[in-house]
Order: sequence, then C-alpha cells, then structure tokens
Amino acid sequence: MFPISPERPADAAQIETLLDLTFGSERTQKTVYRLREGVAHLKPLAFVVRRDADAALLGSIRYWPVALGETQVPAVMLGPVAVHPDYQGQGIGRALIRHSLYAATRVGHRICVLVGDKPYYEPFGFTSAADRGLEMPGWVERERFQVMELLPGALTGVAGMVARPPRGRRKAA
Ligand SMILES: CC(C)(COP(=O)(O)OP(=O)(O)OC[C@H]1O[C@@H](n2cnc3c(N)ncnc32)[C@H](O)[C@@H]1OP(=O)(O)O)[C@@H](O)C(=O)NCCC(=O)NCCS
Repeated sequence: MFPISPERPADAAQIETLLDLTFGSERTQKTVYRLREGVAHLKPLAFVVRRDADAALLGSIRYWPVALGETQVPAVMLGPVAVHPDYQGQGIGRALIRHSLYAATRVGHRICVLVGDKPYYEPFGFTSAADRGLEMPGWVERERFQVMELLPGALTGVAGMVARPPRGRRKAA
C-alpha cells in the first residue's frame, strides 16, 4: 500500500520536519542524541515511506552505529522512527521497523538497541537492555531501554555502557 524505499540525500530536510512534528523540537535534548553527535547514520538502514501522489514524506526510520561495553562490541541503535500524524495507525511504523531489522540482519549486524515504548517494540522481540547488564550514558526510563539479538547468542558476554563507536568505525555526520 505504502512502498518502502531507501532514504535519499534530498529527503533530509523533510525528515527533520517530520521529526520536529512527531517528537517536538526538544527532541535533541534526549540522551540518544548524545550518541548520534558527530556520527553519521547508517545509510543502508535508512528508509522512508512516501505518499504516491505527490511523494510527500509519510514515514522515516534511521539507525546509528554504537559500541557496547569496554570491548566496544559493534551494535546498531534503532531510531528515530516517525510516521506523519495523519497516517499513524495504518501499519507504516511496523513495516518500516520490520523492513529495516531484516536489512540490518542481512548485512550482518548482530545486536540492536533502542529507547522507546516497550509495548510497541516487544512484539518485534526486544527485551529489557538493563536486565542484560547494558547501560545508557544518561538518564532514560529503565523499561524504555531495550535490546534484541539479530544473531542468536550475540549478546552472550556483552554488558556495559552504550557509547559512540570508536573513531575508526564512525563516519562523520
Ligand atoms: C510510534 C509510531 C512510529 C508508530 O507508527 P504507526 O505507523 O502509527 O504504527 P503502526 O500503524 O505500525 O502500529 C499501530 C499500532 O501500534 C500501537 N502503537 C502506536 N504507538 C505506540 C506506542 N507509542 N506505544 C505502544 N503502542 C503504540 C497502536 O496502538 C497500534 O496498535 P494496534 O495495531 O493494536 O491497533 C508513530 O505513531 C509515531 O511516529 N509516533 C510519534 C513518534 C514516536 O513516538 N516514535 C517512536 C516510538 S517509541
């Protein structure tokens, strides 16, 4: 119904407008934004949904690379995901999440973390990240901090702080 396509460089401005609309302009104060600072999002995992008629942007999902614990285990951080208020509740958010998690798995990412509403993400397989011994570098509500193995067993022995990836594994934003 609403096809998913890769994000294009020209979508960036519309995505910022959509994020301001859905999350408010205070969104950049959140802890997750500290993890995104100076780091480019993962282009192969950035997708959008457009309205066919005029190509207006209806939905967007992006991921950032992160590192877990002292050994800096590579992981991806899902979000932000946003759907235009006029089009929410029609399956666009779920489709974007499923599509991008599949893409992440296919290209070999092994662990995905996020901060978001537990009831929304639980059905995809996310569980408490704090229960797995992971921590965020700032305040987040415990139950909103979640993790999922994209490769079974990938979290075994992994614990500690979520951080920006080491410089060698980061593209500058
Ligand atoms: C959250 C968001 C991305 C979901 O996208 P969407 O296209 O509206 O969602 P879908 O149509 O795929 O799914 C709708 C279902 O999810 C549920 N849902 C939507 N947002 C939810 C939330 N924050 N918490 C729990 N459930 C939620 C709806 O009740 C609905 O359930 P139902 O199918 O049982 O009726 C979208 O509503 C949005 O952009 N919200 C504002 C930004 C935001 O909060 N994003 C991050 C979420 S943590």
